[in-house]
Amino acid sequence: MKIVSEISELRHLISEWRLQGLKIAFVPTMGNLHAGHISLVTEAHRHADKVVASIFVNPMQFGIHEDIDNYPRTMDNDQQQLVAAKTDLLFIPTPKIIYPKGLDKQSYVEVPNVSVGYCGESRPGHFRGVSTVVCKLFNLVQPDVACFGLKDYQQVQVIQTMVEDLSMPIKIIPVATVREDSGLALSSRNGYLTKEERKQAPALAQNIQWLANEIRTNNDFIGLAKKASRAINNAGMNTDYIHICHAKTLQPASEDDTELVILAAAHCGKARLIDNLQVFL
Ligand code: PAF
Repeated sequence: MKIVSEISELRHLISEWRLQGLKIAFVPTMGNLHAGHISLVTEAHRHADKVVASIFVNPMQFGIHEDIDNYPRTMDNDQQQLVAAKTDLLFIPTPKIIYPKGLDKQSYVEVPNVSVGYCGESRPGHFRGVSTVVCKLFNLVQPDVACFGLKDYQQVQVIQTMVEDLSMPIKIIPVATVREDSGLALSSRNGYLTKEERKQAPALAQNIQWLANEIRTNNDFIGLAKKASRAINNAGMNTDYIHICHAKTLQPASEDDTELVILAAAHCGKARLIDNLQVFL
């Protein structure tokens, strides 16, 4: 695996592959990799000749109360996993390379509608940071396809909308969430959980699954979501939100919708966990 930090090196290698007519897949990450990230690399190989990954802890997507300095950085372990997954090229830029003028003077990309609400409400400015950095990374790597994990369902919709709205010639490939046997979705944030919290955390996925079963026969979406929220709290967590939404627009679901997604977030100790489930009626 080749590792580069400079934009010129990245562009040089990519242009050589382009001259050879090779297809390129991209997996952007913030590091602290787990099996969920590696499943993105595995999927990327199915769609392209070369797989490029990036590790960049993006300051623009962290809120003022979110501690970017304590975000786990596990570069050696990440690189070993990417090598084992046969990644061809790893791009690890510094913040200065991505935002040379500083965040205050940086142009940004703001995706309307799907960025609003849910995590967009709990983490103001978060999706602007995500869409801006992904747009910038797409411009640098110029991939044919890019893989994103469905655990971050709202993020996938934001990126898909950005690509469509700005006519980017990139196919977005959503990849299924990898889960522990308990149902808990793999996440870098699981590392913050204590032993006790690890036992509580699966209640998030379990109650989303319960809700998914219930809405097949009961369209009191708001009442059912409230019940699921109470059950998550009773399991020792603190629900941030749980909503049944239209799977594409992310607007609150109506009785006539047949493609739905349940979006949820809950605090478990220091960790804010998110999860979701698509439901086709
Ligand atoms: O999902 C993530 O890890 C990040 O939001 C992403 C897409 C790499 C952008 O920084």
